[in-house]
Amino acid sequence: MSHQQQLYTEAAHWLVGGASAGQRYNGQLGRPLYLDRAEGARLYDIDGNAYIDYHGGSGAALFGHKHPRIERALAGAIERGFFMNYDTYDTLQLAKLTRQIFPSCEKIRLANTGSEATQAAIRLARAFTCRDKVLRFDGHFHGMHENIWFNHNAVNPADEFGQVRTVPDSAGFPADASASVINVVFNDVAALEHAVQKYSGQLAAVILEPISYNCGCLEAREKFLANVREICTRERIVLIFDEVITGLRMSPGSAQRRFGVLPDLTTAAKAIGGGLPIALVGGKAEIMDRLNPLGNVVMSGTYTGSLLAVVAAVECLTMSLEPDFYEHFDQLGTRLFTGVNDLFATHNLPGHVRGVGARWAIYFGVEDPEDDFDFRRIATEFDREMDKRFVRAAIDAGLWFHDTSTAITPAHRALMTAHTLADIDETLTKMDTIFAGLS
Ligand SMILES: Cc1ncc(COP(=O)(O)O)c(C=O)c1O
Repeated sequence: MSHQQQLYTEAAHWLVGGASAGQRYNGQLGRPLYLDRAEGARLYDIDGNAYIDYHGGSGAALFGHKHPRIERALAGAIERGFFMNYDTYDTLQLAKLTRQIFPSCEKIRLANTGSEATQAAIRLARAFTCRDKVLRFDGHFHGMHENIWFNHNAVNPADEFGQVRTVPDSAGFPADASASVINVVFNDVAALEHAVQKYSGQLAAVILEPISYNCGCLEAREKFLANVREICTRERIVLIFDEVITGLRMSPGSAQRRFGVLPDLTTAAKAIGGGLPIALVGGKAEIMDRLNPLGNVVMSGTYTGSLLAVVAAVECLTMSLEPDFYEHFDQLGTRLFTGVNDLFATHNLPGHVRGVGARWAIYFGVEDPEDDFDFRRIATEFDREMDKRFVRAAIDAGLWFHDTSTAITPAHRALMTAHTLADIDETLTKMDTIFAGLS
């Protein structure tokens, strides 16, 4: 029996599912992955197996594992007293760097996780507008809380106007939680206009992922974001860009800079901390100043802005602003995406790969790469069985793709600064063998 299997047998008695987080259970292994350590682009399990990591800490490890500059920053913080529970000069530095990457963030407030950040942004929008309802887009994911965790894990019925029935993604939600959440088909301006008119004067916020990596790699259509911006301004609705994944992920650093559309509020997390738990809400001073102590919207927490996380974030944001930072991802992506698409053709498998910057997805069973704007079509066509077979074979070949067998769309996969072109070539060679087995 492997060390991992032994650990699982014991851990299952003490930890629910043998893991510290529900999503860490790996359906293809029949247990979680138990690691010994990680370095650069490699994960090492407790049985001594090495994997090229394409999960990248669920997007947080954009800089790979044990990045020397992040380690140095952390060592400096440990020296100073790593949990002082008050701000330092570093917090101010972080706020200034944030503005360079997310230009709409005139002021910021910190949090620990993306879920906390979206929760606070919604609370702020409600207080600012004195309205209750929040409009979200079908398939997008904004964290696991009762304010917004709906319609990511299923294709729910839609009416003729593109409004989709609001259905929670977890049991245990109060029955009335759904009443304040309106779901609309993504990339459909007419559907948005219809919902905005139908709920006129009731919508506090529109929240969206400008590129929904949680639906694979689903980009906003040309002009869609500008249209959403116009509608929100006209209707006095707070527009929230959830940049928890898009932040730092692509040139020039954020989706709002890439698309040239500024939201009223932004949420960011994951890559900004390079693996340390940190998140932020930022936006127009007029809205942000409604937070306490200036305003009456309370947002605070024991671990908020902990020195370790802040110094890591300062280092990560600094690195992302250095020249040629995104060229590396462009080179890796070009080689990888072209290579995998060629493998689909060579092995006569239906599907394709799609990526923007440092996040990408494999669309088994989904044809027509030019028309990837529809979550509902992708979710319907996506071949989940083939995806599972791929993940299983990849693990055996030493490629780590996180198992998301409960997801209905392709999972987002990582590129990290630590990946090299040699890693990509090794991956393509292994995927050639895996695809041969799938076809
Ligand atoms: C777009 C988006 N928003 C919010 C979250 C929630 O972040 P966290 O897991 O840090 O709570 C996630 C997590 O995957 C996300 O992808």
